[in-house]
Amino acid sequence: MTESDIKKIQKKIVSLEQSLDKKDKEIEKLKKMLDEYQGFLDQMKKQPLIIGSVERVLKDGRIIASHAPGNRVLLQPNTFLKPEAGDSVVLHGQSLQILDILSKKIRDHVVGMELIESPSVSFEDIGGLDPQIEAIREIIELPLLHRELFDQIGIDPPTGALLSGPPGTGKTLLAKAIATSSKARFIHLVGSDLVQKFIGEGSRMVREVFSLAKENLPAIIFIDEIDAIAVKRTSEVYKGDREVQRTFMQLLSELDGFANKEGIMFIAATNREDVLDPAILRPGRFDRIIKFDLPNEEARLMILKIHTRKMNLNNVDLEEIAKKTEGFSGAHIKALVTEAGIKCLRERGNKVIQAHFNKALAEIVDKEHGIKDYIYS
Ligand SMILES: Nc1ncnc2c1ncn2[C@@H]1O[C@H](COP(=O)(O)OP(=O)(O)O)[C@@H](O)[C@H]1O
Ligand SMILES: [Mg+2]
Repeated sequence: MTESDIKKIQKKIVSLEQSLDKKDKEIEKLKKMLDEYQGFLDQMKKQPLIIGSVERVLKDGRIIASHAPGNRVLLQPNTFLKPEAGDSVVLHGQSLQILDILSKKIRDHVVGMELIESPSVSFEDIGGLDPQIEAIREIIELPLLHRELFDQIGIDPPTGALLSGPPGTGKTLLAKAIATSSKARFIHLVGSDLVQKFIGEGSRMVREVFSLAKENLPAIIFIDEIDAIAVKRTSEVYKGDREVQRTFMQLLSELDGFANKEGIMFIAATNREDVLDPAILRPGRFDRIIKFDLPNEEARLMILKIHTRKMNLNNVDLEEIAKKTEGFSGAHIKALVTEAGIKCLRERGNKVIQAHFNKALAEIVDKEHGIKDYIYS
Protein backbone atom coordinates (compact mmCIF):
# COMPACT_ATOMS: atom_id res chain seq x y z
CA MET A 1 0.00 0.00 0.00
CA THR A 2 1.58 3.30 -1.04
CA GLU A 3 1.46 6.48 0.93
CA SER A 4 -0.97 8.04 -1.49
CA ASP A 5 -3.31 5.10 -0.99
CA ILE A 6 -3.29 5.65 2.75
CA LYS A 7 -4.05 9.32 2.25
CA LYS A 8 -6.95 8.50 -0.01
CA ILE A 9 -8.40 6.18 2.63
CA GLN A 10 -7.95 8.75 5.37
CA LYS A 11 -9.76 11.32 3.25
CA LYS A 12 -12.56 8.86 2.63
CA ILE A 13 -12.91 8.23 6.37
CA VAL A 14 -13.19 11.91 7.09
CA SER A 15 -15.85 12.41 4.47
CA LEU A 16 -17.81 9.40 5.70
CA GLU A 17 -17.69 10.69 9.25
CA GLN A 18 -18.99 14.00 8.07
CA SER A 19 -21.87 12.44 6.20
CA LEU A 20 -22.66 10.27 9.21
CA ASP A 21 -22.86 13.40 11.31
CA LYS A 22 -25.23 14.90 8.78
CA LYS A 23 -27.42 11.82 8.81
CA ASP A 24 -27.56 11.85 12.60
CA LYS A 25 -28.76 15.42 12.49
CA GLU A 26 -31.36 14.52 9.88
CA ILE A 27 -32.63 11.66 12.01
CA GLU A 28 -32.84 14.01 14.98
CA LYS A 29 -34.89 16.40 12.89
CA LEU A 30 -37.21 13.66 11.65
CA LYS A 31 -37.73 12.38 15.19
CA LYS A 32 -38.75 15.86 16.24
CA MET A 33 -41.16 16.05 13.34
CA LEU A 34 -42.59 12.67 14.20
CA ASP A 35 -43.18 13.81 17.77
CA GLU A 36 -44.91 16.89 16.48
CA TYR A 37 -47.16 14.91 14.20
CA GLN A 38 -47.88 12.36 16.90
CA GLY A 39 -48.95 15.22 19.14
CA PHE A 40 -51.02 16.64 16.34
CA LEU A 41 -52.69 13.29 15.78
CA ASP A 42 -53.40 12.88 19.49
CA GLN A 43 -54.84 16.36 19.50
CA MET A 44 -57.03 15.44 16.53
CA LYS A 45 -58.31 12.38 18.31
CA LYS A 46 -59.25 14.46 21.32
CA GLN A 47 -61.64 16.62 19.35
CA PRO A 48 -65.19 15.38 19.07
CA LEU A 49 -65.22 12.62 16.51
CA ILE A 50 -67.92 11.31 14.29
CA ILE A 51 -69.24 7.79 14.49
CA GLY A 52 -69.87 6.26 11.14
CA SER A 53 -69.99 2.92 9.50
CA VAL A 54 -68.17 1.33 6.63
CA GLU A 55 -70.55 0.54 3.82
CA ARG A 56 -68.19 -1.08 1.42
CA VAL A 57 -64.52 -1.55 0.74
CA LEU A 58 -63.75 -1.22 -2.96
CA LYS A 59 -61.32 -3.50 -4.76
CA ASP A 60 -58.64 -0.82 -4.85
CA GLY A 61 -58.88 -0.36 -1.10
CA ARG A 62 -60.91 2.83 -1.10
CA ILE A 63 -63.64 2.89 1.47
CA ILE A 64 -67.23 4.04 1.27
CA ALA A 65 -68.35 5.15 4.71
CA SER A 66 -71.48 6.80 5.93
CA HIS A 67 -72.01 9.03 8.91
CA ALA A 68 -75.08 11.23 9.26
CA PRO A 69 -78.20 9.67 7.69
CA GLY A 70 -77.82 9.55 3.94
CA ASN A 71 -74.32 11.05 3.94
CA ARG A 72 -71.77 8.86 2.31
CA VAL A 73 -68.13 9.62 1.71
CA LEU A 74 -65.45 7.98 -0.37
CA LEU A 75 -62.16 7.66 1.52
CA GLN A 76 -58.73 6.86 0.21
CA PRO A 77 -57.30 3.48 1.19
CA ASN A 78 -56.42 3.38 4.85
CA THR A 79 -52.89 2.03 5.32
CA PHE A 80 -53.06 1.70 9.07
CA LEU A 81 -56.45 0.23 9.77
CA LYS A 82 -58.21 -2.44 7.81
CA PRO A 83 -61.90 -1.80 8.36
CA GLU A 84 -64.43 -4.12 6.75
CA ALA A 85 -67.92 -3.48 5.50
CA GLY A 86 -70.32 -3.26 8.42
CA ASP A 87 -67.77 -2.09 10.95
CA SER A 88 -68.58 0.82 13.13
CA VAL A 89 -65.75 3.37 12.87
CA VAL A 90 -64.58 6.70 14.27
CA LEU A 91 -64.18 9.44 11.69
CA HIS A 92 -62.27 12.67 12.04
CA GLY A 93 -64.56 15.68 12.21
CA GLN A 94 -63.19 17.56 9.22
CA SER A 95 -61.21 15.18 7.08
CA LEU A 96 -63.56 12.27 7.84
CA GLN A 97 -60.55 9.96 7.84
CA ILE A 98 -61.05 6.75 9.77
CA LEU A 99 -59.12 7.03 13.02
CA ASP A 100 -60.25 3.90 14.76
CA ILE A 101 -62.47 0.83 14.44
CA LEU A 102 -65.09 0.84 17.16
CA SER A 103 -66.79 -2.49 16.83
CA LYS A 104 -67.87 -5.18 14.52
CA LYS A 105 -71.08 -5.45 16.46
CA ILE A 106 -73.69 -5.48 13.70
CA ARG A 107 -71.90 -8.24 11.93
CA ASP A 108 -71.89 -10.46 14.98
CA HIS A 109 -75.41 -9.43 15.71
CA VAL A 110 -76.63 -10.54 12.31
CA VAL A 111 -74.76 -13.81 12.49
CA GLY A 112 -76.11 -14.45 15.97
CA MET A 113 -79.67 -13.68 15.00
CA GLU A 114 -80.15 -16.99 13.27
CA LEU A 115 -81.81 -15.42 10.33
CA ILE A 116 -80.81 -18.51 8.47
CA GLU A 117 -83.44 -21.15 8.83
CA SER A 118 -83.81 -24.61 7.47
CA PRO A 119 -87.56 -24.81 7.02
CA SER A 120 -89.13 -28.22 6.94
CA VAL A 121 -92.24 -27.20 5.02
CA SER A 122 -92.92 -29.19 1.89
CA PHE A 123 -95.37 -28.68 -0.95
CA GLU A 124 -97.58 -31.37 0.54
CA ASP A 125 -98.29 -29.07 3.47
CA ILE A 126 -99.81 -26.48 1.16
CA GLY A 127 -103.37 -26.80 -0.07
CA GLY A 128 -105.06 -25.21 -3.04
CA LEU A 129 -102.11 -23.24 -4.29
CA ASP A 130 -101.08 -25.35 -7.25
CA PRO A 131 -100.73 -22.50 -9.75
CA GLN A 132 -98.68 -20.52 -7.25
CA ILE A 133 -96.47 -23.51 -6.53
CA GLU A 134 -95.89 -24.03 -10.21
CA ALA A 135 -95.04 -20.35 -10.72
CA ILE A 136 -92.60 -20.15 -7.86
CA ARG A 137 -90.84 -23.32 -8.90
CA GLU A 138 -90.28 -21.87 -12.30
CA ILE A 139 -89.14 -18.48 -11.03
CA ILE A 140 -87.04 -19.49 -8.03
CA GLU A 141 -86.20 -23.17 -8.14
CA LEU A 142 -85.27 -23.50 -11.78
CA PRO A 143 -82.60 -20.77 -11.79
CA LEU A 144 -81.14 -22.18 -8.57
CA LEU A 145 -81.02 -25.79 -9.63
CA HIS A 146 -80.66 -25.53 -13.40
CA ARG A 147 -79.07 -22.25 -14.26
CA GLU A 148 -77.52 -23.83 -17.35
CA LEU A 149 -80.93 -24.04 -19.01
CA PHE A 150 -81.14 -20.26 -19.06
CA ASP A 151 -77.59 -19.92 -20.29
CA GLN A 152 -78.29 -22.38 -23.11
CA ILE A 153 -81.21 -20.36 -24.39
CA GLY A 154 -79.37 -17.16 -23.71
CA ILE A 155 -81.82 -15.39 -21.42
CA ASP A 156 -81.42 -13.92 -17.99
CA PRO A 157 -83.22 -15.93 -15.33
CA PRO A 158 -85.70 -14.11 -13.11
CA THR A 159 -84.16 -12.60 -10.00
CA GLY A 160 -87.04 -12.60 -7.61
CA ALA A 161 -90.71 -12.91 -6.90
CA LEU A 162 -93.19 -10.83 -4.98
CA LEU A 163 -95.91 -12.82 -3.25
CA SER A 164 -98.96 -10.67 -2.95
CA GLY A 165 -102.30 -11.38 -1.33
CA PRO A 166 -104.42 -11.24 1.84
CA PRO A 167 -102.95 -12.28 5.20
CA GLY A 168 -102.96 -15.96 6.07
CA THR A 169 -103.13 -17.24 2.52
CA GLY A 170 -99.88 -19.19 2.61
CA LYS A 171 -97.27 -16.74 1.32
CA THR A 172 -94.74 -17.40 4.06
CA LEU A 173 -95.54 -21.07 3.86
CA LEU A 174 -94.80 -21.18 0.14
CA ALA A 175 -91.53 -19.27 0.51
CA LYS A 176 -90.38 -21.79 3.08
CA ALA A 177 -91.41 -24.72 0.92
CA ILE A 178 -89.46 -23.44 -2.05
CA ALA A 179 -86.35 -23.06 0.10
CA THR A 180 -86.67 -26.70 1.12
CA SER A 181 -87.21 -27.95 -2.39
CA SER A 182 -84.38 -25.95 -3.93
CA LYS A 183 -81.98 -26.95 -1.15
CA ALA A 184 -81.10 -23.32 -0.53
CA ARG A 185 -80.34 -21.47 2.66
CA PHE A 186 -83.36 -19.53 3.71
CA ILE A 187 -82.65 -16.09 5.09
CA HIS A 188 -85.76 -14.66 6.63
CA LEU A 189 -86.15 -10.93 7.20
CA VAL A 190 -89.26 -9.13 8.33
CA GLY A 191 -89.78 -5.59 7.07
CA SER A 192 -91.39 -4.32 10.22
CA ASP A 193 -88.51 -5.70 12.31
CA LEU A 194 -86.06 -3.68 10.26
CA VAL A 195 -88.03 -0.56 11.03
CA GLN A 196 -89.04 -1.18 14.63
CA LYS A 197 -86.42 -3.43 16.21
CA PHE A 198 -83.30 -2.07 14.65
CA ILE A 199 -84.01 1.61 14.85
CA GLY A 200 -81.33 3.53 13.05
CA GLU A 201 -79.59 0.38 11.89
CA GLY A 202 -82.05 -0.95 9.33
CA SER A 203 -79.86 -0.11 6.38
CA ARG A 204 -76.81 -1.68 7.96
CA MET A 205 -78.85 -4.75 8.75
CA VAL A 206 -79.88 -5.04 5.13
CA ARG A 207 -76.29 -4.76 4.00
CA GLU A 208 -75.09 -7.32 6.48
CA VAL A 209 -77.83 -9.75 5.62
CA PHE A 210 -76.95 -9.64 1.95
CA SER A 211 -73.29 -10.18 2.65
CA LEU A 212 -74.22 -13.05 4.91
CA ALA A 213 -76.16 -14.54 2.01
CA LYS A 214 -73.15 -14.20 -0.25
CA GLU A 215 -71.20 -16.43 2.10
CA ASN A 216 -73.98 -19.00 2.19
CA LEU A 217 -74.84 -19.72 -1.41
CA PRO A 218 -77.16 -21.00 -2.72
CA ALA A 219 -79.50 -18.81 -0.77
CA ILE A 220 -82.98 -17.39 -0.83
CA ILE A 221 -83.50 -14.06 0.86
CA PHE A 222 -87.08 -13.73 1.96
CA ILE A 223 -88.36 -10.32 3.01
CA ASP A 224 -91.73 -10.64 4.63
CA GLU A 225 -93.93 -7.55 5.06
CA ILE A 226 -91.84 -5.67 2.56
CA ASP A 227 -94.44 -2.89 2.58
CA ALA A 228 -93.02 -1.77 5.94
CA ILE A 229 -89.95 -0.43 4.13
CA ALA A 230 -90.97 -0.08 0.50
CA VAL A 231 -93.97 2.21 0.67
CA LYS A 232 -94.51 4.66 -2.15
CA ARG A 233 -94.32 8.27 -1.13
CA THR A 234 -97.77 9.20 -2.32
CA SER A 235 -99.57 6.55 -0.31
CA GLU A 236 -101.57 7.39 2.78
CA VAL A 237 -99.47 5.09 4.99
CA TYR A 238 -96.20 6.76 4.07
CA LYS A 239 -94.60 8.20 7.16
CA GLY A 240 -91.66 9.89 5.51
CA ASP A 241 -89.22 8.44 7.98
CA ARG A 242 -85.68 9.05 6.77
CA GLU A 243 -84.39 5.89 8.31
CA VAL A 244 -87.04 3.87 6.52
CA GLN A 245 -86.07 5.55 3.29
CA ARG A 246 -82.44 4.75 3.88
CA THR A 247 -83.24 1.13 4.59
CA PHE A 248 -85.25 0.99 1.39
CA MET A 249 -82.47 2.60 -0.66
CA GLN A 250 -80.00 0.14 0.79
CA LEU A 251 -82.30 -2.71 -0.17
CA LEU A 252 -82.56 -1.49 -3.75
CA SER A 253 -78.84 -1.06 -4.06
CA GLU A 254 -78.17 -4.52 -2.64
CA LEU A 255 -80.72 -6.05 -5.00
CA ASP A 256 -79.06 -4.36 -7.93
CA GLY A 257 -75.63 -5.43 -6.77
CA PHE A 258 -76.76 -9.03 -6.72
CA ALA A 259 -78.86 -9.01 -9.87
CA ASN A 260 -78.31 -12.18 -11.85
CA LYS A 261 -75.65 -13.46 -9.54
CA GLU A 262 -75.72 -17.20 -9.60
CA GLY A 263 -77.10 -18.97 -6.56
CA ILE A 264 -79.13 -16.23 -4.97
CA MET A 265 -82.81 -15.46 -5.33
CA PHE A 266 -85.11 -12.97 -3.68
CA ILE A 267 -88.65 -13.41 -2.45
CA ALA A 268 -90.77 -10.73 -0.85
CA ALA A 269 -94.28 -10.90 0.54
CA THR A 270 -96.89 -8.25 1.11
CA ASN A 271 -100.56 -7.84 2.01
CA ARG A 272 -100.50 -4.32 0.64
CA GLU A 273 -99.38 -4.43 -2.94
CA ASP A 274 -101.35 -1.23 -3.53
CA VAL A 275 -98.99 0.88 -1.41
CA LEU A 276 -95.73 -0.62 -2.64
CA ASP A 277 -93.18 1.57 -4.32
CA PRO A 278 -93.09 0.31 -7.93
CA ALA A 279 -89.29 0.66 -7.87
CA ILE A 280 -89.03 -2.77 -6.28
CA LEU A 281 -90.82 -4.38 -9.19
CA ARG A 282 -88.29 -3.34 -11.82
CA PRO A 283 -86.45 -6.04 -13.75
CA GLY A 284 -83.61 -7.48 -11.74
CA ARG A 285 -85.45 -6.90 -8.48
CA PHE A 286 -88.73 -8.59 -7.59
CA ASP A 287 -89.61 -8.85 -11.23
CA ARG A 288 -92.36 -11.49 -11.05
CA ILE A 289 -95.55 -11.17 -9.07
CA ILE A 290 -97.38 -14.20 -7.74
CA LYS A 291 -100.90 -13.43 -6.58
CA PHE A 292 -102.62 -15.17 -3.70
CA ASP A 293 -106.29 -15.12 -2.92
CA LEU A 294 -108.61 -16.42 -0.28
CA PRO A 295 -109.17 -20.12 -0.97
CA ASN A 296 -112.33 -21.25 -2.75
CA GLU A 297 -114.36 -24.19 -1.55
CA GLU A 298 -112.22 -26.78 -3.24
CA ALA A 299 -109.03 -25.23 -1.88
CA ARG A 300 -110.53 -24.97 1.59
CA LEU A 301 -111.26 -28.66 1.53
CA MET A 302 -107.65 -29.39 0.62
CA ILE A 303 -106.39 -27.18 3.41
CA LEU A 304 -108.79 -28.84 5.86
CA LYS A 305 -107.48 -32.22 4.82
CA ILE A 306 -103.90 -31.11 5.36
CA HIS A 307 -104.49 -29.72 8.82
CA THR A 308 -106.60 -32.66 9.99
CA ARG A 309 -104.14 -35.21 8.66
CA LYS A 310 -102.78 -36.09 12.08
CA MET A 311 -106.08 -35.67 13.90
CA ASN A 312 -108.15 -38.45 15.28
CA LEU A 313 -111.40 -37.72 13.44
CA ASN A 314 -114.65 -39.58 13.78
CA ASN A 315 -117.26 -39.14 11.11
CA VAL A 316 -116.35 -35.58 10.26
CA ASP A 317 -117.69 -34.25 6.98
CA LEU A 318 -114.87 -32.01 5.81
CA GLU A 319 -116.74 -31.13 2.61
CA GLU A 320 -119.55 -29.75 4.70
CA ILE A 321 -117.07 -27.61 6.66
CA ALA A 322 -115.44 -26.40 3.47
CA LYS A 323 -118.86 -25.18 2.33
CA LYS A 324 -119.46 -23.29 5.56
CA THR A 325 -116.13 -21.50 5.66
CA GLU A 326 -116.59 -19.00 2.86
CA GLY A 327 -114.19 -16.09 3.35
CA PHE A 328 -111.75 -18.03 5.53
CA SER A 329 -108.05 -17.84 4.80
CA GLY A 330 -105.73 -20.82 5.20
CA ALA A 331 -104.70 -19.45 8.58
CA HIS A 332 -108.35 -19.20 9.65
CA ILE A 333 -108.90 -22.80 8.69
CA LYS A 334 -105.92 -23.89 10.67
CA ALA A 335 -107.24 -21.97 13.67
CA LEU A 336 -110.65 -23.56 13.23
CA VAL A 337 -109.16 -27.04 13.23
CA THR A 338 -107.13 -26.26 16.35
CA GLU A 339 -110.20 -24.82 18.04
CA ALA A 340 -112.21 -27.97 17.25
CA GLY A 341 -109.41 -30.01 18.78
CA ILE A 342 -109.53 -27.90 21.92
CA LYS A 343 -113.30 -28.37 22.18
CA CYS A 344 -112.76 -32.11 22.09
CA LEU A 345 -110.02 -31.83 24.69
CA ARG A 346 -112.27 -29.92 27.07
CA GLU A 347 -114.79 -32.72 26.90
CA ARG A 348 -111.99 -35.13 27.61
CA GLY A 349 -112.86 -36.86 24.38
CA ASN A 350 -110.31 -38.66 22.27
CA LYS A 351 -112.00 -38.41 18.91
CA VAL A 352 -112.87 -35.15 17.22
CA ILE A 353 -116.42 -35.18 15.88
CA GLN A 354 -118.48 -32.92 13.65
CA ALA A 355 -120.09 -31.23 16.67
CA HIS A 356 -116.68 -29.97 17.82
CA PHE A 357 -116.15 -28.38 14.45
CA ASN A 358 -119.61 -26.85 14.47
CA LYS A 359 -119.06 -25.33 17.89
CA ALA A 360 -115.70 -23.93 16.89
CA LEU A 361 -117.17 -22.58 13.69
CA ALA A 362 -120.07 -20.89 15.46
CA GLU A 363 -117.66 -19.27 17.86
CA ILE A 364 -115.37 -17.96 15.19
CA VAL A 365 -117.98 -16.73 12.75
CA ASP A 366 -120.24 -15.28 15.44
CA LYS A 367 -117.65 -12.84 16.61
CA GLU A 368 -118.94 -9.37 16.13
CA HIS A 369 -115.93 -8.22 14.20
CA GLY A 370 -115.95 -11.07 11.75
CA ILE A 371 -113.30 -13.69 11.23
CA LYS A 372 -110.67 -11.36 9.93
CA ASP A 373 -110.19 -9.56 13.22
CA TYR A 374 -110.65 -12.59 15.35
CA ILE A 375 -107.61 -14.45 14.25
CA TYR A 376 -104.36 -13.07 13.11
CA SER A 377 -102.26 -15.09 10.79
N1 LIG B 1 -102.77 -22.80 1.43
C1 LIG B 1 -102.53 -23.24 2.67
N2 LIG B 1 -102.41 -24.55 2.93
C2 LIG B 1 -102.19 -25.00 4.17
N3 LIG B 1 -102.06 -24.21 5.24
C3 LIG B 1 -102.16 -22.88 5.06
C4 LIG B 1 -102.39 -22.33 3.77
N4 LIG B 1 -102.45 -20.98 3.89
C5 LIG B 1 -102.24 -20.71 5.18
N5 LIG B 1 -102.07 -21.84 5.91
C6 LIG B 1 -101.85 -21.92 7.35
O1 LIG B 1 -101.84 -20.62 7.89
C7 LIG B 1 -100.61 -20.31 8.49
C8 LIG B 1 -100.20 -18.90 8.15
O2 LIG B 1 -99.98 -18.78 6.78
P1 LIG B 1 -98.84 -17.84 6.18
O3 LIG B 1 -98.13 -18.59 5.14
O4 LIG B 1 -98.01 -17.28 7.28
O5 LIG B 1 -99.73 -16.71 5.55
P2 LIG B 1 -99.24 -15.34 4.92
O6 LIG B 1 -97.78 -15.34 4.91
O7 LIG B 1 -99.86 -15.34 3.56
O8 LIG B 1 -99.84 -14.27 5.78
C9 LIG B 1 -99.64 -21.32 7.93
O9 LIG B 1 -98.61 -21.60 8.82
C10 LIG B 1 -100.51 -22.52 7.68
O10 LIG B 1 -100.65 -23.27 8.85
MG1 LIG C 1 -96.67 -14.24 6.20
